[in-house]
Amino acid sequence: MQLATQLDKLGTETAFAVSGAAAAWAAKGHKVYPFHLGDINIATPANIVEATYKAIKDGYTGYCAAAGIPELRAVLAEDVGSKRGIQYRAENVSVQPGGKPVIGKFIAAVMNPGDEVLYPNPGYPIYESQIEYLGGVGLPYGYIETATGFALDMEAIKRSITPRTKALIYNNYQNPTGAQSTRQEMEELAELAIEHDLWVMSDDAYYEILYGVQPDSIVNLPGMQERTVILYTCSKRFAMTGWRLGAAIGPKSIIDVINKLNTNVESCSPHFIQRAMVEAIPGDTTGPDAIVETLLERRDAAVAGLKAINGVSIAKPQSTFYLFPNVTAIMERKGFTDVNQLMTEALTTTDVSFCTRKHFGRPLAGEKHHYIRLAYSGINVENIQTGLARLKEYFEA
Ligand SMILES: Cc1ncc(COP(=O)(O)O)c(C=O)c1O
Repeated sequence: MQLATQLDKLGTETAFAVSGAAAAWAAKGHKVYPFHLGDINIATPANIVEATYKAIKDGYTGYCAAAGIPELRAVLAEDVGSKRGIQYRAENVSVQPGGKPVIGKFIAAVMNPGDEVLYPNPGYPIYESQIEYLGGVGLPYGYIETATGFALDMEAIKRSITPRTKALIYNNYQNPTGAQSTRQEMEELAELAIEHDLWVMSDDAYYEILYGVQPDSIVNLPGMQERTVILYTCSKRFAMTGWRLGAAIGPKSIIDVINKLNTNVESCSPHFIQRAMVEAIPGDTTGPDAIVETLLERRDAAVAGLKAINGVSIAKPQSTFYLFPNVTAIMERKGFTDVNQLMTEALTTTDVSFCTRKHFGRPLAGEKHHYIRLAYSGINVENIQTGLARLKEYFEA
């Protein structure tokens, strides 16, 4: 018996393999400094936990509507719309078990086999995986390193578009680079999307993880709301990665299709969590909350630790909880050509675990620089400082 050949096209999130290596190293008795996974070691806010207990006790434990309960759809429409300066209604919201399912469902809803989809690379690896698995052609676009961080390679996007291009996946406040678009970049992207009649998925997983900057969204530019699906998730905003609750928010025509996919795939998202979020989301203040303040302290510690390393270059991102330092000089110093060699040796030499550029999509032809990715969401300030001091000693040797 053989498995389906289509599976050859399915990628994965190889960062989970790095977790396996880190766990194996820890099992040998080493204390690992975990910078590899974008998980959060901060507690979910107590009001959400309490509201969930109550919802379970009140008996909200059965199936519910595939699209999500009407109350949560209405709350999300108001919250997501008002934070982006536009209006949504409950019918524009499809509740999901996390943000990740939005990716495959969006692609399935807009792409025919052989169609092309633009996606960021380096970027969240599931975009590439789902485009190819569903029979499409991925058009990767990269980022250009600047003095202040990373900027979209707009020329690469323009060059790639063909009559077969159907959609653009865009992740402002980006994993892994921490890139944040200027308004001008968003306007240029919106113009391209309209000119070429593209659907857009705006992956807003980190829309609330901002440090002293106002959020901005491509969806409120003229002509964009009717072609954009927002990937919304409770995972990062409320430190709820393991709970699995998110939503697709967009035009009713595509949301109706995504609801049908929900019925086919998971029937519904957990009922009692939806009940809890009906109370928690309107109660959330928009300013910096406790989760973001903790992450901010960690960002500052991590950026300072990396800046202190001779040969590492890093700007200070104003969003996400990722850092994507350029380690080309370290690679030259060590005589490595594959950045994963650096990752492997760093773990066994320093106990510091991190991902590399190679975990965020297939590297593009002609890439000259090497990058690693550090997440500071699952490690406290003291361990950030100790871990990066160990990395400094190893990188500078
Ligand atoms: C850019 C991006 N999008 C989507 C997700 C999916 O998150 P979740 O499924 O936990 O909502 C992640 C998770 O790390 C991410 O980094």
